[in-house]
Amino acid sequence: MFVLAMDTTADDTCAAVVKDGKKILANVVFSQSKLHEKYGGIVPQIASREHLKNIIPVIDAALKQSKIELENIDLIAVGQSPDPALSYYHIGLTTAKMFAYILKKPLVGVDHMEAHIFANLAIFPELKFPFISLTAAGGHTLLVRAFDFGDLEILGSTLDDAAGEAFDKVARILGLGYPGGPAIDEAAALGNPKAYEFPRPMAHHKGFDFSYSGLKTSVFLKVRGLKEEGGGELATDQVNDLAASFRAATVDSLLDKTFKACREFNLKRLVLGGGVAANNLIRVQADAAGKNFGLEVYYPPKNLCTDNAVGTATLGFYQFKNKGADDPFKLSYFRQSPLEKWQ
Ligand code: KG4
Ligand code: ZN
Repeated sequence: MFVLAMDTTADDTCAAVVKDGKKILANVVFSQSKLHEKYGGIVPQIASREHLKNIIPVIDAALKQSKIELENIDLIAVGQSPDPALSYYHIGLTTAKMFAYILKKPLVGVDHMEAHIFANLAIFPELKFPFISLTAAGGHTLLVRAFDFGDLEILGSTLDDAAGEAFDKVARILGLGYPGGPAIDEAAALGNPKAYEFPRPMAHHKGFDFSYSGLKTSVFLKVRGLKEEGGGELATDQVNDLAASFRAATVDSLLDKTFKACREFNLKRLVLGGGVAANNLIRVQADAAGKNFGLEVYYPPKNLCTDNAVGTATLGFYQFKNKGADDPFKLSYFRQSPLEKWQ
């Protein structure tokens, strides 16, 4: 089955063609990061305008890359997200509805965060349930216990800033550009993670929730103090050390909760997804824990951690097989909650 998927739930216009949920025939991502850079985050009006401009060329490029004719596509999948306020989701959804209606193909709406998890299946089709999954992106941080497709229990989520958002905001404080994750990763590689002692957020809280706004404030106050001492500027070494210390604190807090969930539910399979799973330190630490504690650790290549439509196509395939198509007349951009149970 050939699935054509599209996703405009963040600042990337994405399309992909995937065969049977595992063979990636095309993966096209048109990034708008440069346009949002000076604002330090996604500006909805700009995202809408750009998605509208790029969605058809991106789909066209994906079809050409896949060498599959449009009439041979069997299923259309589209990313949905739980935040009702953001107008730019509509672009992908409306486009997908029109394709499905005109081509008379089935349509499935796929939860964007869930798609981040199941992008792993396109690379590791042998991945088995149950598992613990940490999905850390720009808008959400979710720790879930996955029993089956459409049967995911949320163990914890962010109480304030998402992990990726914290990377973006701290990068801004450090003058490192947007998106912040890759910029901090690069600076951190040159810095000392022990140079500054930042708190490991939520370490002493029961449960599995995350919080990053306190950590972000700690970095802000430290930067303010250092700037006052240094005549208004940070030295490059200080920026690198701050990036390394912040990255270490964030990754420790994400993985501490995640490993705790693996222990508590006695699950030896761990799946990482979302933009923050592209982080070099989180990948190294997850692998090390895998070796030390006998965990099977899965994370996709970096380009399938950040936004893409491969996960949308992959999950769309399994969703269609398990619960059938959605009604193009009724499908809404809005989902009640992230990872709502399939009926
Ligand atoms: O999953 P994603 O592409 O979009 C959302 O669904 O939000 O995640 C984007 C987030 C951004 O906040 C970005 O800074 C972060 O993922 N990110 C990273 C890295 N690459 C992207 N965070 C840490 N380290 C990275 N290497
Ligand atoms: Zn995403």
